[in-house]
Amino acid sequence: MKVTAFFFFAGCLLVAQLSCSKFGNTLPPPPPDPCFNLNMGLSGNVTNPSTSGAADGSIAVTAAIANGYSYSINNSPFQASGNFNNLSAGNYTIKVRNTDGCSETISFVLTNPVPSCSGVTIVVSASATGNDPCGSGDGTVSATATGGAAPYAFSLNGGVYQTNPVFTNLTSGSYTILARDANGCIGSSAIVVGNQPAGPLFTQVRTLIRSNCLYCHGPVLSNGINLNIDCNIVTGKDRIKARAVDGLPTPMPQSGLLPAADRQKIIDWINAGGRFTN
Ligand code: HEC
Repeated sequence: MKVTAFFFFAGCLLVAQLSCSKFGNTLPPPPPDPCFNLNMGLSGNVTNPSTSGAADGSIAVTAAIANGYSYSINNSPFQASGNFNNLSAGNYTIKVRNTDGCSETISFVLTNPVPSCSGVTIVVSASATGNDPCGSGDGTVSATATGGAAPYAFSLNGGVYQTNPVFTNLTSGSYTILARDANGCIGSSAIVVGNQPAGPLFTQVRTLIRSNCLYCHGPVLSNGINLNIDCNIVTGKDRIKARAVDGLPTPMPQSGLLPAADRQKIIDWINAGGRFTN
């Protein structure tokens, strides 16, 4: 009997409490959320870095009611002041917290000043190595630049800028080299890529061709190959060797092969590379 009575009693209490929380107004209301609808009225003043890359910018955050606030920049520890100094360019978020632990954030962007090129003279000096006039373009230009802010980038005739100051595979002619410094200031210089002179082995071959072959392979009668043009000697070297050294299919000159010493000059030149510059 006693046990049954206890359960009965406990059951009544439970029902009473459920009823109370569901329908009653007797419990005290929860305290109002101190952060609800809070508006700190945050604003700020920004001073950008004085020169590109300098860490002397600042942010000053003010709140409409600046009472008991503390401030944290980019999640660093909170401080009492809303002033942040020694800042470089970048994105900053400042969290403002009151004594109740409520917080708001405000974000700023510090930018580097756009550098001025007035008064800056970029001096470009360029040097060239010559081109083989019978090759496919093997002249080079190398440049150096001074007077601006390193690093420099270089452009040939206004093309894509590159960090490498050397340009290769150039044919002979005039070029403009531009150098652009770290602030975007530009200087330029003109440079001429000339032709390399004829090499000594080529010169020997050209001399013997001029005296033995031009009569039938010159500007007037070319007979398939105008040997008065230097680069025709270069491009036709295998055919020249076949005729004038090996006598195949028929010897050239037609009257009979050249003296052995002259044929050796052709062999030596071809073995050295057979270029205009050899
Ligand atoms: C007296 C005239 C004469 C002289 C000198 C002469 N040739 Fe020829 N050569 C010809 C004639 C004609 C042909 C075209 C017929 C042939 O292929 O045999 C020819 C053809 C050639 C060809 C082939 C042309 C081709 O298109 O492939 C070569 C190479 C050549 N000669 C080289 C020489 C060289 C090198 C010399 C000097 C060492 C020389 N010849 C001297 C008359 C001459």
